[in-house]
Amino acid sequence: MIYGNAALKDTGSQQSDAPILFRRPRSEDGHSVWELISATAALDDNSSYCNLLQCSHFASTCAVAERDGAIVGWLSGYVPPDREDTLFVWQVCVGSQARGQGVASRLIGAVLARPSSSRIRYVECTITQQNTASWRLFGSVARTLRTQLSKAEYFRKDIHFKGTHDSELAVTIGPFRREQVAALKA
Ligand SMILES: CC(C)(COP(=O)(O)OP(=O)(O)OC[C@H]1O[C@@H](n2cnc3c(N)ncnc32)[C@H](O)[C@@H]1OP(=O)(O)O)[C@@H](O)C(=O)NCCC(=O)NCCS
Repeated sequence: MIYGNAALKDTGSQQSDAPILFRRPRSEDGHSVWELISATAALDDNSSYCNLLQCSHFASTCAVAERDGAIVGWLSGYVPPDREDTLFVWQVCVGSQARGQGVASRLIGAVLARPSSSRIRYVECTITQQNTASWRLFGSVARTLRTQLSKAEYFRKDIHFKGTHDSELAVTIGPFRREQVAALKA
């Protein structure tokens, strides 16, 4: 999912006090999402077509954070076909101008709070060992949901990436009670 704690490639964005709206993505958001991810050095780039599919076919398990009409945060996720009770979080990305304001946590909360997520009791993702921001984010999510976080080796550097990418650990948060989800939206 992510390579580390590298800084955003862009640097020019201004802070704003305008409210942030959390909502399902629309297909028209796909290219802006692609631009946000492309500007974030820490994240794997995807094709814009991939982001278009996420914003359309997978909209119910993805979310955007919008401020002043601009996409400042993004979460892509899906429910693995054989695990209906799980939200797998693929990427979380918050623009530099919106970090440190709970946007990433609220993106996760926004997806979990939807009626379509009523069966979800676990959040999963994969994280490289050295990605401190991700460990902190998902550790915080587990604490807020008042449940445990477990990790296990998953995609290995030697076997799955032929040495080109650090190993990804599978992280599982849960089970959590639905009532706790509201705490992530605060
Ligand atoms: C990681 C990222 C998504 C965090 O977004 P954010 O909106 O600033 O995160 P939040 O404000 O929701 O923070 C959630 C928790 O993570 C912690 N955290 C977030 N970024 C952190 C960082 N860089 N270093 C240490 N802790 C961090 C916060 O302190 C908070 O913990 P708390 O609830 O115990 O106070 C954002 O920095 C980003 O997009 N980074 C580049 C892409 C990336 O690495 N994505 C992978 C994340 S899965």
